[in-house]
Amino acid sequence: MAITGLKVMNEQKQGTPYTSSMMPEKSNGDKFYIENYGCQMNFNDSEIVASLLTKEGYQVTGNYEDAKVVLINTCAIRDKAEMTIRRRLGTFNKIKKNNPGMLIGILGCMAERLKSKLLEEEKLVDIVAGPDAYRALPGLIDEADGGQKAINVFLSREETYADVSPVRLNSNGVTAFVSIMRGCNNMCTFCVVPFTRGRERSRDPQSIVRECVELRDNGYKEVTLLGQNVDSFNWVNPDTNEAVTFADLLEMVAKVSPELRVRFSTSHPKDITDDVLYTMAKYENICKYIHLPVQSGSTAVLQRMNRTYTREWYLNKVKRIREIMPDCAISTDIIAGFCGETLEEHEATLSVIEQVKYEMAYMFMYSERPGTLAARRFEDSVSEEEKKRRLQEIVDLQHKHQAELMPKDIGKTCKVLIEGNSKKSNQDWVGRNDQNKVVVFSKENRDLKPGDYAKVKVTDCTSATLLGKLA
Ligand code: 5AD
Ligand code: SF4
Repeated sequence: MAITGLKVMNEQKQGTPYTSSMMPEKSNGDKFYIENYGCQMNFNDSEIVASLLTKEGYQVTGNYEDAKVVLINTCAIRDKAEMTIRRRLGTFNKIKKNNPGMLIGILGCMAERLKSKLLEEEKLVDIVAGPDAYRALPGLIDEADGGQKAINVFLSREETYADVSPVRLNSNGVTAFVSIMRGCNNMCTFCVVPFTRGRERSRDPQSIVRECVELRDNGYKEVTLLGQNVDSFNWVNPDTNEAVTFADLLEMVAKVSPELRVRFSTSHPKDITDDVLYTMAKYENICKYIHLPVQSGSTAVLQRMNRTYTREWYLNKVKRIREIMPDCAISTDIIAGFCGETLEEHEATLSVIEQVKYEMAYMFMYSERPGTLAARRFEDSVSEEEKKRRLQEIVDLQHKHQAELMPKDIGKTCKVLIEGNSKKSNQDWVGRNDQNKVVVFSKENRDLKPGDYAKVKVTDCTSATLLGKLA
């Protein structure tokens, strides 16, 4: 179990199989199954893969025993994620023993990190495709089917899949992800992403807007613009040499429709500009929520992490956000026990949490990734036990703040986008408010449906959910 936010993230929940009612125009008679691990970018990549394979005549299935091609879209960010995926590969290989025609493919960051290792040395998979190689997947499947070694881990400087319309998998029909860029140039020393996802590149803004218009026309009410570092979005028009910044893009997407909510993730504190904040403030449909990973509250640790900002710079950003948007919710990512972290440096992280008071946080123990700058430069010196202890302190403090912050919304009225039935009762709707907080309220026989906005008065709360009544 990894501890993330108030919720203890259930690693079992990672890897949910995907389905869609989308049928290929011309079926080739074969089915594929796809399972996803890791971040939202990966989720959207699985939708791109689904689109590319559907075009080739494959049909998606939620049952791997029916599938000719079993794909796992993987994450390499922490060792734990890779261990879970390795166990899963074991399970699929057992099934393959009784079904020798089945092909197992590994996609995404772990494919890129391990390259041919899982195919040639460990013989656990038939196909390996890195994040920029999905267009080659139909060809790789054919090669593997013919008994060849099928691998493509080429990282591109241009690929953005701009023209691929993702097949919306496991969709609620209300919210969707839209990738606006790929890769990362930041080189945070702990992070494997620059090695697995390659150089940063921005997607043509017109294709982004087109995708959002299409989603709106299909009844979607919320888009989340995705990138490792959305604030460094920068697309230069090859004809005019004019640049489109993230603030420009946000405005273009906000104008698609006032009924279409806009969210985005992830922001890097060094890149989020006042322009972005003013654009957020200007448009009611841009949600007032920023995920702003701090990683550590100690300037010395931030320097070892190569985050390129100091504690003071970060706190100033938070101040600026709250000056421009007093109601903006802020969440973060924190790493406990990075290389050489002293007790004093750990306490600086606790005090930054104390100062900001985050609405939500994803909290992790440092996990050394082979090949990263930290692995090469520093010793992973904090013991496992001490990392655990520090993480627990961070989690407890965050927990306490959330317990203090949640009741502050009681009595307020908020606009909730209904996403579906609540998990506990089909008499209740669940949705999220502007600040990304989950809100549950009784249906009260009113004529509402998923995708509608409701005005809800908050009457109570649990540790992670607001409870309310239709206003
Ligand atoms: N160990 C622990 N956490 C990590 N993250 C990234 N790399 C590592 C690592 N090696 C965390 C960071 C990042 C989030 C997506 O995952 O906090 O913001
Ligand atoms: Fe990794 Fe840093 Fe890039 Fe985020 S910004 S993907 S943490 S290198």
